[in-house]
Amino acid sequence: MAGLPDFPEVRISAGRLDIREFGPADAGLVSEVLQGGDWLPLSTALVGPVGASDTGDPADLDWWLADAVHEPRRDGTGLDLMMLAREDDQIVGWIYLTDVDRYACSAQIGYGVRPHARGRGFATEALVAVSRWALTAGGLQRVWLSVNTDNLASLRVAKKAGVTQEGTLRRASLEEDGLHDVAVLALLDDEI
Ligand SMILES: CC(C)(COP(=O)(O)OP(=O)(O)OC[C@H]1O[C@@H](n2cnc3c(N)ncnc32)[C@H](O)[C@@H]1OP(=O)(O)O)[C@@H](O)C(=O)NCCC(=O)NCCS
Repeated sequence: MAGLPDFPEVRISAGRLDIREFGPADAGLVSEVLQGGDWLPLSTALVGPVGASDTGDPADLDWWLADAVHEPRRDGTGLDLMMLAREDDQIVGWIYLTDVDRYACSAQIGYGVRPHARGRGFATEALVAVSRWALTAGGLQRVWLSVNTDNLASLRVAKKAGVTQEGTLRRASLEEDGLHDVAVLALLDDEI
């Protein structure tokens, strides 16, 4: 594809977090998350396979770590990363690039933090670090977020990370509890 070259390997050292891609040796780290029942904040790309491995078959998890989780990177459409807290070497959340546009050099960022780890600034720390990486080493010129306007915690994270709200898509997202307005926010490479 024209435009963007393949992403380099992601190994980001943020304040309290190491942010990196999943690998075959991470079964212990991911199992600890699954045993805690904490797969919900995963990105859509991860929910299916990890939900399946929640049935208890370690082969599912090995396959996911060795192969499935890397599909977005292989396709050039995204990257799935873990937030690893250095204090206890446990996964506290996930952050991912998706909808990569290799011509416009843009991508959407999404994130989730495990319930017990929320409110400690991990999402903000990860968003700052990953957006900076994406807009420098990652070769992108725009990263953007779409956040339901009633997701006040996520809007706050975006604001703390310096991401600008560009507009609101009215009734753009259908969820179990009905339609939601969606805020679109972005950060450009000349804004970091
Ligand atoms: C959104 C989410 C990632 C935030 O993670 P986090 O690590 O707790 O975020 P941070 O600690 O960096 O910041 C959270 C901020 O939101 C604020 N906040 C939390 N709940 C809030 C609420 N109901 N109303 C207003 N502000 C709220 C916190 O006070 C904090 O702001 P502060 O530092 O000014 O006090 C986490 O709640 C989550 O995983 N939610 C479910 C998945 C999700 O919504 N992902 C984002 C999709 S766009």
